Amino acid sequence: MKLDSKIAHIGVCTDEKTGAISTPVYQSATFRHPALGESTGFDYTRSQNPTRKVLEEGIATLEGGAIGLAFASGMAAVTAVLLLYKTGDHLIVIEDCYGGTYRVIDKVFSNFGLTVSFIDGSHIDEVIQAIIPATKAIIVETPTNPLMKIIDIQAIVKTAHENNIHAIVDNTFLTPYFQRPLEMGADVVIHSGTKYLAGHNDLVCGLVVARDAELGGRIRYIQNSTGGILGPNDSWLLIRSLKTLALRMEKHNSNAKVIAEWLTNHPRVLNVYYPGLPGHPGKAVHESQSSGYGGMLSFVVDSTQLVEQVLRKVKLIRFAESLGGVESLITLPAVQTHADVPVDVRERLGISDCLLRLSVGIEDAEDIISDLEQALFV
Ligand SMILES: Cc1ncc(COP(=O)(O)O)c(C=O)c1O
Repeated sequence: MKLDSKIAHIGVCTDEKTGAISTPVYQSATFRHPALGESTGFDYTRSQNPTRKVLEEGIATLEGGAIGLAFASGMAAVTAVLLLYKTGDHLIVIEDCYGGTYRVIDKVFSNFGLTVSFIDGSHIDEVIQAIIPATKAIIVETPTNPLMKIIDIQAIVKTAHENNIHAIVDNTFLTPYFQRPLEMGADVVIHSGTKYLAGHNDLVCGLVVARDAELGGRIRYIQNSTGGILGPNDSWLLIRSLKTLALRMEKHNSNAKVIAEWLTNHPRVLNVYYPGLPGHPGKAVHESQSSGYGGMLSFVVDSTQLVEQVLRKVKLIRFAESLGGVESLITLPAVQTHADVPVDVRERLGISDCLLRLSVGIEDAEDIISDLEQALFV
């Protein structure tokens, strides 16, 4: 079955008795045992819930993994994966990862003796040099947030497996619709489901998919032990959202391409970061591992006054955190999503006070451009 069909049919007719097309919401905390020592397969919703199970199996199918797991947020998903590691273990993480991921590793997991090297993942030599005997995982996002650098997933996987360590990819920006890291050999995929998978700026959720059942089982054990599960109602909402993923991703993708090209020609825009532009250094690698560019782009304007003006004047585009929803959103990463990345690191990376990040929605591209035009007009 083609991916579009799999996407549209997540959770269809899971209730044999009624033949309900849509998966029911099993809003129950606990489940009756048929007899002593017997189970229906569901005992208590933290351990498993029928609605969440449909979602978890659905995302595992889309990513091509053995086990999917749904969490209360993307950060709960990141945290569950990090809990695979223990005191003395070392991680290699891209330096321009999502600010919340940077923070939880740098400020929370460091308290438990987990060490980390933040590196530029677009240079595989830097990754290789960072490996030490204690290294247990390499964690990447591609394209990166907000600078849209491209990481070579296959090179990361090869390096990781040659050194007997895990390759973990945060696939939030592209979703399995455009990129499937597990098929390239990655061990774990993480999502902030809040973004494109949920897609409507109305739900906070996270997902993990493990390529093999043994590792997936270990993360499931952590999920049940620590309890950051997605509830039945939110699981249902995410199943419903996923059904239109293909349509939404196509529109995000085509809109972002037009807008990136338009921004490139704007006199007040100094730089546009978008992997679909001809001059993007990671374009070839990106095209070898993804079937679309996604809906995210970042751009640099020529002054902080103009940043302030754009954020005040946008109308159709909303000045708000987050990304991946049907509505276009604009953010200033240096003071929002990446505020917890140390200033010197931000400056070195180019996450300046003039860098704006645009999550291109599914509105008409001409309307988004008109809005940007009036907001940038001085
Ligand atoms: C790439 C990436 N990973 C993880 C997260 C965390 O997800 P959540 O906000 O759902 O906890 C985010 C949030 O913006 C993100 O952009």
